[in-house]
Amino acid sequence: MTKDGEINVAFVCLGNICRSPMAEAVFQHVVNSNNLGNVVTRIESFGTAGYHIGEIPDSRTIETCQVNGVPIDHRAQQFTSDKFKEFDYVLCMDHANLKNLKRIEPSDSKAKLALFGEWKDDKKFSRIIDDPYYGGTDGFEICYDQCIHFSNVFLRDECGHQV
Ligand code: 4NP
Repeated sequence: MTKDGEINVAFVCLGNICRSPMAEAVFQHVVNSNNLGNVVTRIESFGTAGYHIGEIPDSRTIETCQVNGVPIDHRAQQFTSDKFKEFDYVLCMDHANLKNLKRIEPSDSKAKLALFGEWKDDKKFSRIIDDPYYGGTDGFEICYDQCIHFSNVFLRDECGHQV
């Protein structure tokens, strides 16, 4: 935590064009809708890989956010080990992301590194946000529903806010 109980959250996937930009946009939207911008003060997203640095999100991520009234504006960036000190939470989508992040996590890191899906309390959702890149639009809709649910549970459990 930074001063006065403020927290910074980074979302990480592989390419930073499908899942984590959606997680960032959805989480920011839920934070704003609940007037929690003074509690969660920095929200960003990254990829473990650098293939898509500088690109806007996948059109299916943009479409899914827009259909649901969630603003999205992002350019892909890569997560590097020095970023661990900038965030209180580094939240990733699947076990491959987690493995890649553990490999570059500094031994003295204080950030909480976890799957975003650890903040789930409904059996109907998977803890893993599957990579939707090579699939159809349904993968993006499932990702969206997971992001909404995990965001609500995170804000309840980590920020004591009933959303
Ligand atoms: P993301 O999806 O990790 O959710 O952004 C992917 C995007 C691109 C690639 C893989 C996954 N790719 O191989 O280029």
